[in-house]
Amino acid sequence: MNEQEQMESFYEIFDPSLPRLGPGDAGSTRRALRAALGGPTDDLTVASAGLRIIDLGCGNGAQTLVLAVETGLEIEALDNHKPFLQELDRRARAAGLAGKIHTREGDLLALDCEDASFDMVWCEGAIFIMGFRKGLARIRDLLAPGGSLALSELCWLKDDVPEECRSFFESQYPQMSDVSANLDTARACGYEVLDWFAQPESAWWEPYYTPLGEQVALLREGYAEDIDRSAMLDMVELEIEIYRKYHDCYGNVFFVLKR
Ligand SMILES: C[S@@+](CC[C@H](N)C(=O)[O-])C[C@H]1O[C@@H](n2cnc3c(N)ncnc32)[C@H](O)[C@@H]1O
Repeated sequence: MNEQEQMESFYEIFDPSLPRLGPGDAGSTRRALRAALGGPTDDLTVASAGLRIIDLGCGNGAQTLVLAVETGLEIEALDNHKPFLQELDRRARAAGLAGKIHTREGDLLALDCEDASFDMVWCEGAIFIMGFRKGLARIRDLLAPGGSLALSELCWLKDDVPEECRSFFESQYPQMSDVSANLDTARACGYEVLDWFAQPESAWWEPYYTPLGEQVALLREGYAEDIDRSAMLDMVELEIEIYRKYHDCYGNVFFVLKR
């Protein structure tokens, strides 16, 4: 399989119609939003009035829709895969939020936003694309002073991780760090930490791994003769199985930071 075919196969698995493209749920997005807005507040629309918000690596926009509903604001949503943005546009129209969400095709590795042009940057499951430290530093430039950054990132949750799990991530995401190292990095990059929390296990299953597993099963029927594509499906299934076995060892952690 050449690179082009690999990408096609990847996007066949990660189809825009999936509920979302990484672990997460509306409750976690709301909790992080509340923290980013400064803590307990009854009316998030009042607390967020006038803020300029961008959602980086928005995908098909599960969290963008939550942000738009909760804040009542217009939100910019950036991703480099057009079919995800088209799906987000469709979902926004269906939810009566068409004028609220402005999708933009763009590259996280070459962001062309002006410095200090946002009061809040959202980035669920996509900071790893820039690298944790580099991403924090780049996003800090985009934030106006006092602005906030909410992101989710895979983190180790304990030290004594069984070999099978450790070696899976050594091959798939060797940069994965633990919470306290990431908090140190955030502070070193000039942020105050407002909150952090590991998303619940349910945020991995209902919205993400369960439908992804169904998608894999569906594709497998047509891939029986295709060794390369079958191997990609095997990898997704292995990732799901690793989480099923070792979900106490790592998690998707929300960090809510203030510039
Ligand atoms: C793990 S998904 C997270 C999507 C969404 N935030 C969610 O939680 O469902 C990562 C997203 O980053 C996007 N992405 C990957 N590389 C990118 C790049 N260089 N520039 C912009 N977006 C990118 C992918 O298309 C995908 O939508």
